[in-house]
Amino acid sequence: GDVAVVVPAAGAGLRLGPGAPKALRLLEGEPLLVHAVRRIAAAPSVAMIVIAAPPADVDAVHTLLADVAPVTVVAGGAERQESVAAALAVVPPELGIVLVHDAARCLTPVSVFERVAATVRDGADAVIPVLPVVDTIKEVDDTETVLGTVDRSALRAVQTPQGFRASVLRAAHAAAADSHTDDAGAVEKLGLPVRCVPGSDLALKITRPMDMAVAAHLLTLPAP
Ligand code: CTP
Ligand code: MG
Repeated sequence: GDVAVVVPAAGAGLRLGPGAPKALRLLEGEPLLVHAVRRIAAAPSVAMIVIAAPPADVDAVHTLLADVAPVTVVAGGAERQESVAAALAVVPPELGIVLVHDAARCLTPVSVFERVAATVRDGADAVIPVLPVVDTIKEVDDTETVLGTVDRSALRAVQTPQGFRASVLRAAHAAAADSHTDDAGAVEKLGLPVRCVPGSDLALKITRPMDMAVAAHLLTLPAP
């Protein structure tokens, strides 16, 4: 493998309601992070997995994953961007491709990791998995009055893993003064192209309680 996967997993999971940090909450008896790492480790391209854990849970995460896959665990930061930066800092320079993958997208299939990695290997600087937008989208003003209907055919909903030539991701992070919600956004600010590949319904981000119910159901389906 020529790929390092950086896994931001240090978030609190506030939108799930009270409880443990999101990556440590249980889905059908196993922490989300275990579901995520098991799938990442099954991708043939992957040579290294770095987890950015909640700072208080670094040792617990190491223990949790001992029997799942070889991983490196670092303490995450207060913002997702800081967690990614902390994990990226321990990726050795000989790994030329870095994928950044949210622990919260814990059911993402191996095929998406391989598709993103292959597209970077083929020459793209930055690659994101996307889905078409299903809802009608309106732009509104500050009084919630509709300004217009956005052309949905030109919109994409973005998932992870987002893949990068390692040098490009490092440069993007170094240049990113303000915060960005995704890593490809930092690459866009460098003026570099970001390529889209098909994502997966299974790569949903567990954010609200309903997503846990959806994910539990998805686990009952035959493996993709
Ligand atoms: N994340 C992180 N470090 C942070 C914040 C978020 O590593 N300081 C990670 C989360 O663990 C998650 C991913 O970034 O895997 C996407 O973030 P999100 O879905 O927003 O998770 P949380 O921040 O945990 O959830 P919430 O915003 O509801 O608190
Ligand atoms: Mg968050």
